[in-house]
Order: sequence, then structure tokens, then C-alpha cells
Amino acid sequence: MNQNKGFYITTPIYYVNDIPHIGHAYTTLSADILARYMRIKGRKVFFLTGTDEHGQKVERAARERGRFPKEHADIMVENFKDLWKVLNIQNDAFIRTTDEEHKKIVQQLLQKLYDRGEIEKRKYSGMYCTPCERFWTVKDLIEGKCPDCGRDVEFIEEENYFFLMSKYQNSLIAHIEKNPSYILPETRKNEVLSFLKNKPLGDLCISRPRQRLQWGIPLPFDENYTTYVWFDALINYYSALQYLAPKDTEWWPPDHHLIGKDILITHAVYWSTMLLALEIPLPRNIFAHGWWTVKGAKMSKSLGNVVNPYEVVKKYGVDAFRYFLFREVSFGLDGDFSEEAIIRRINNDLANDLGNLVNRFIVMNEKYMGGKIKPQWIDEDFTVEVQKIISEIEKESLWDEFKFNIILEKIWELISLTNNYIAKTEPWKVAKENSEKLPHILFNIWNAIRVIAVFLYPFMPDSGKKIWNALGLESYKIDYNMFKWKTEIKEVETKKIEQIFPRIDVTKENKQEQKNRENKMEELIAIDDFLKIKLKVGKVIEAERVKGSEKLIKLIVDIGEKRQIVAGIGKSYSPEELLGKSIIVVSNLKPAKLMGLESQGMLLAATSSDGTISILTVDREVNPGSGIK
Ligand code: MSP
Repeated sequence: MNQNKGFYITTPIYYVNDIPHIGHAYTTLSADILARYMRIKGRKVFFLTGTDEHGQKVERAARERGRFPKEHADIMVENFKDLWKVLNIQNDAFIRTTDEEHKKIVQQLLQKLYDRGEIEKRKYSGMYCTPCERFWTVKDLIEGKCPDCGRDVEFIEEENYFFLMSKYQNSLIAHIEKNPSYILPETRKNEVLSFLKNKPLGDLCISRPRQRLQWGIPLPFDENYTTYVWFDALINYYSALQYLAPKDTEWWPPDHHLIGKDILITHAVYWSTMLLALEIPLPRNIFAHGWWTVKGAKMSKSLGNVVNPYEVVKKYGVDAFRYFLFREVSFGLDGDFSEEAIIRRINNDLANDLGNLVNRFIVMNEKYMGGKIKPQWIDEDFTVEVQKIISEIEKESLWDEFKFNIILEKIWELISLTNNYIAKTEPWKVAKENSEKLPHILFNIWNAIRVIAVFLYPFMPDSGKKIWNALGLESYKIDYNMFKWKTEIKEVETKKIEQIFPRIDVTKENKQEQKNRENKMEELIAIDDFLKIKLKVGKVIEAERVKGSEKLIKLIVDIGEKRQIVAGIGKSYSPEELLGKSIIVVSNLKPAKLMGLESQGMLLAATSSDGTISILTVDREVNPGSGIK
């Protein structure tokens, strides 16, 4: 292998039509785990994620919110970036398909394919599914609906450009068969092979007439057409390296494209054939993971069962969430999300097995050794067993094939082994005997926890680091050498820590919920309370941004008299669009100062889950100053 080849891992780039949910978190977290592991193994890593911002879906979502597509994307992209921070994701770059550099590269590649005769203009008709942005033949349809999403399709006839994908059917089959780990898991590989072998591969329509789709990259050889969103999106894996990756390392081909099973064909077939036509080497692996359901049902907005990662993290902590997702199910299979399951994992695996081990050891070492740890002899029997598990965890194929649940099982074997070692050696008894054996036993326990912390780190970075520091290792880096049983470390001092994973008391949780409900009842207000708030209709007569603030807008509002109101609505509104609006103002609020400006009242507005603000208005002309009840 080329010595300078870095480890390159990608996630899908997510559509900015909606806010991120547990599914998006799942793929990105899995990439983060492997990226962190590879970094501690000493590999140079480039971990790419980003957002897919063109196409009809995004154009429509923007229109529904009354925004321009780019303006909409700029707002939505922050939700993804913010979630990755909350989840402790260490991506090396974030690509947006609206980046100028990306757009240029997409056009260059399109031109190249066109010049080589790989793209052709043809008359075309077919059944089109707008939400999926895909054409289907009548035969593909299931009961007249889109076979992917089950929604209505429409008949469309138009001239379009086609990428001559069919040419590559046989070479792609040959590539997949020659490289058994090209598509994983095995079942997904078989799915792709049967897709490719059972019917002739068609050509791929890669354009949309401009009058139907404006929000996208124009074809470089025909301005009347926009590039099909998938053709634009897939290229991100290639374009990002040209302007976002360190130049001192060779990154191509990607080691893993991580995707969900829903986008297997677009990657395994469209992307692979695009690369074959461009004569760019194919990635080493495409891995399609399973889907999360909730109580057996697909997550959907209409069912109201979409799991919000922020809420789970707020309630249970980021590391418990990371652990649960990858321990609960095998990464290739579907999994069912429930709070009961997460609580079970926290109480059994994290609080009981892991938390107790760390705590017991730290307390004992503090009590008997004053916190000191010095390398001592190594217990032979224990070592043999520990090393057996270490070498199993380190097995490259486990990591390369994303067998995260098995890796975690094995880490837990190491945890039980160490817990059993404590039970067997009974340090509290040895302490009473004043025996010299005590520092030896404690050193062996310390050493096992040290290795456990290193392996846990990619999955639970905060907790791994906490344990690491409690072991007295804060001045040592968590790296490859630290997997080794034999340690060069001379002497350290352990530190007391709080329980890393406190048990969740389910009955207490239920009681708390009951109490919350009761409190809510108590919070009800009487009509008199409400009438204390004076609401008035106000007409905006002046509006300007507050200098130095992205959020604040200064308004002069007529509510029968002129009032200055400073409102945090600048990310959702421009001053111009506010002029003339009839808004609702709380007129008897004590004045407050915002960035040095007095605000003499407050306007009413709703904030949606993606952070967009919508101002309340009246639906008929009303005189400024009219009261509201
Ligand atoms: N923009 C395309 C991908 C282009 S890649 C060149 C897209 N975006 S998406 O926002 O719809 O995200 C799709 C990805 O989100 C899936 O592939 C999967 O990784 C993840 N998931 C979405 N829902 C999911 C579940 N319910 N469960 C697990 N992951 C799922 O498709």
C-alpha cells in the first residue's frame, strides 16, 4: 500500500429540506467512531460530511417557508453543524454542494463526460416521482405509485441528457464480484448484483429542463438544463478533496462510503458507473447500514414519531446515546428505538459493569495506596486472558466491516474479566493482611482499565477521556501504544471522579413525569392574569438592522403612539419585508435595553423547530393601536 495514502471516510451529504433526526446522526456517528479509531492507530484521516443543497426537494421546502433556496440552505445547514458539535463529531471537513468550488468541479466532470461521448441528448418519457426526484418505468410502479416512497407519480415527456450508464453494466458486475468487500454487508452486495443481473441497466437521465428546476448547477454544454441533483451530490466525494483536504496526503480512493440502505443503488450503481466512465478508481468500500424504526414503524413526520437526537442527548447524555446506537443492533440491520431499551443499556452496561468497575478501583487505590500507581509485575494468568481479548478487538476485519456491536461486546468481556479479577483477588482482604501483593493487584486492574478506556474512546470520547484522566493519564495521548498491555508509564496518581454513568431510577422517572403533569396543571392561569398583558396591533413604519448584530432589528411601530421595539428576528426577516406589516405588540412591558437600544415593548412571533421565526399578524386591515383579547 502507498505509504502516503490517508484514510478517507465519508457520510452521505444530507438534504437541507428538513432538520436532522436520529437516522442522520447514526451514519455520521458511525463514521466518527471509525475515524477516531484510525486516528489513534496513527493513520492520517480525512472524514467528510456535508449537505446536499440543490434539487426540487430543497427548492420546494424553501418556497414553503417563503425563502430563497440559498437563504433556506444557509439557515438549515446550521442545524446539521450544530448537531455534529453536540454529538462530539470530529469531521475534518464539511462540504456544501452550493460551494463555488464544488459547482465548478461538477461542471468540469460533466464536460469531460460530454466530450468523451458518454452523455447524449434524447427524447424521453417516463413516470416521475417528484419527492424522490427519479424517473420510473410503468413496470417499476407498484399499484401505480412510486416503488420507493409509495407516493403519486406523474407522466412526463421531454428532451433530456443521458449518461450512458448501460455500457458499464458488465464491468461493474465484474468489479463487484472481484472485490467481495466493495459492497457490504453481503446481503446488500447480493441485492445490487441481482439488480444488475436481472434486467438490462438503463441509461441515467442527468438533466432537468431549466423551466422545471432552477435550483441546481447548469449543464456546462446546455444552459437550458440543470444537473440532476444526484449527479451533482455524488461528486462531492471527489470534489471535496480538491479544495477541502490537506494536500500533503493522497486520499483517493475513499476507504469507506457510509450510507443508509435507502441510497444503495445511487451509490453502488450510479456513482460506480460515473467513476468507471471518468476512469477514476472506485472506492474501496460502500457500506449500507440499516434503518431505525420506532415501535416497529418507519419514522415519519405525519406519525409524529421522529426521534430528535437533541432530546435523547439532553435526557441521557451524548455518550449513552452513542453507545446505545452501536451496541443495540448489528450495524447492517434495522434497529428499533425505545427509551426503555436505552435505559436498560445505561443501567446494566454503563452504570453497573463499566461505572462500578472504574469507581471501585479508584476508591480502592485511593484508600490503600494514596492514589499511587507504579508498574509492577504482571499477573500471568490474567494477562493471557486480557491479551486474547485485546487481539480479538484489534482484528482489522471487525473495524473494516463495521462490526461495532461485536467490538463492544468484546470490550464488555474485558470489563467483566476485570470485575471478576477483582472478585477473585479480593484486594480489601489483601489490604488487611498488609501483603506486598496489593500494589501488584491494583496495578493489574489499573492496566486493564487503561486498555478499556482506549478502546472505549472512539465510541464514547468524553467518558473514555474521563476514565483516562481518573487513571492519572491526562498528560499521555490516547494512541496506538496505549492498546498494548505492557506499558512504559513510570508512575502516576489516580484521581477521584463522580459516577460517570449514574443509574436511572425508572420509578423515580415515572414519578417525576407525574409531578411534571401536576405542575403543568398548577401553572394554569386565570383570565385576570391574562388580562394583565396588554396586546395591541402595531403597524411597522420603520425597520433597520442593529449594527453589529445578525439577529436584532430595530423597529418603529405605530400602536396609536410611536414605539421603538428591538426584536431578535434578523435571521428570518429582512427590514424591507417588515415595513407596513400589522403585528401584535405587548404594549405594557417594562422597557429593556438590547445592545444599548431601548426596546419599548415586544412583538409576538412563533419559532419553528428549525429555528425559523414567523411573526404574528392580523388577517384583515385593523387600525394601529387596536386592542387584542
Ligand atoms: N442527499 C441524499 C444523499 C446524497 S449522498 C451523495 C440523501 N439525504 S438524506 O438527508 O435523505 O439522508 C439520507 C441518509 O440519512 C440515509 O442514507 C441514512 O444514512 C440516513 N437515514 C435517514 N433516515 C434513516 C433512518 N430512519 N435510520 C437510519 N438512517 C437513516 O439521501
